[in-house]
Amino acid sequence: MKGIVLAGGSGTRLFPLTLVTSKQLLAVYNKPMVYYPISVLMLAGIRDILIISTPSAVPVIENLLGDGSQLGLNLSYAVQDEPRGIAEAFLIGAGHVGGDSSALILGDNLFHGAGFPELLRDARESLDGCTLFGYPVTDPERYGIGEVDASGRLVSIEEKPAIPRSDNAITGLYFYDKDVVDIARGIRPSARGELEITDVNLEYLRQGRAKLVGLGRGHTWLDCGTYDSLLAASQYVQAVEKHQDERVACLEEIALRMGFIDAEACYRLGAGMGQSHYGRYLTEIAYAHD
Ligand code: DAU
Repeated sequence: MKGIVLAGGSGTRLFPLTLVTSKQLLAVYNKPMVYYPISVLMLAGIRDILIISTPSAVPVIENLLGDGSQLGLNLSYAVQDEPRGIAEAFLIGAGHVGGDSSALILGDNLFHGAGFPELLRDARESLDGCTLFGYPVTDPERYGIGEVDASGRLVSIEEKPAIPRSDNAITGLYFYDKDVVDIARGIRPSARGELEITDVNLEYLRQGRAKLVGLGRGHTWLDCGTYDSLLAASQYVQAVEKHQDERVACLEEIALRMGFIDAEACYRLGAGMGQSHYGRYLTEIAYAHD
């Protein structure tokens, strides 16, 4: 399975924070925002990841993460020069996806929760068509919304409905089989001029091959697109890291635990940042790992 992080967009809702910096490089507590979606793909066991961002942000993200080999990953980069829609990720990333299945995640989405890695692995193994991940929200008119019937079958998907049929938001993590590139090529821009990911999902739904996995209790999903959600995300990560002594989206630790790198590599990465808590943590866990 191939991974794509879509980390473009103009970030206008965060002006002036994003006047000269890309949103996905802003801090969420102690690490750049883009670490969080990358961690999700890594937890799903994906090592081949394309990062798509704006012309000005791609060189900066590349400077930050390089080719990913230090994390046992294979990272590549591509530019989206204008935000023409989330589904454009599959036109830009067609060569990267090839004939494989893929997971797309939005660059400002944070997922965390007990059992989340297992849930990702199950979703990957049982993938047939597309798998979407739902999360209950109080403001469903702001999201893509999925409706399931009494038997749990997905029956409708609507993008930002004025009168939502449910409060189940479709989060910014999408698993697709090998057909997604062809399906994305077949959709037309919406009224707001974008290639909507909801139209890709609707095609899978029409084919009877779309599934919604609910992220219920014990899971957290946040996007970081507004001042308040950005701050809430930082406070959430701070609370987990300080009070539960657990790290969220610590890429080096995930790489170690997933077997992408060995203890020596983890120690070296930590020693390189040894003046920070983050770096010291890595040197501490490197050889403690069972
Ligand atoms: O966050 C989940 C929601 O994301 C879903 O529930 C919706 O179905 C989906 O359409 C999307 O809605 P948003 O209104 O949040 O989409 P937005 O245009 O804000 O884009 C989401 C992120 O993707 C944002 O960080 C910027 C990035 N993006 C967006 C577009 C349209 C790109 O990198 N390129 C793009 O062309």
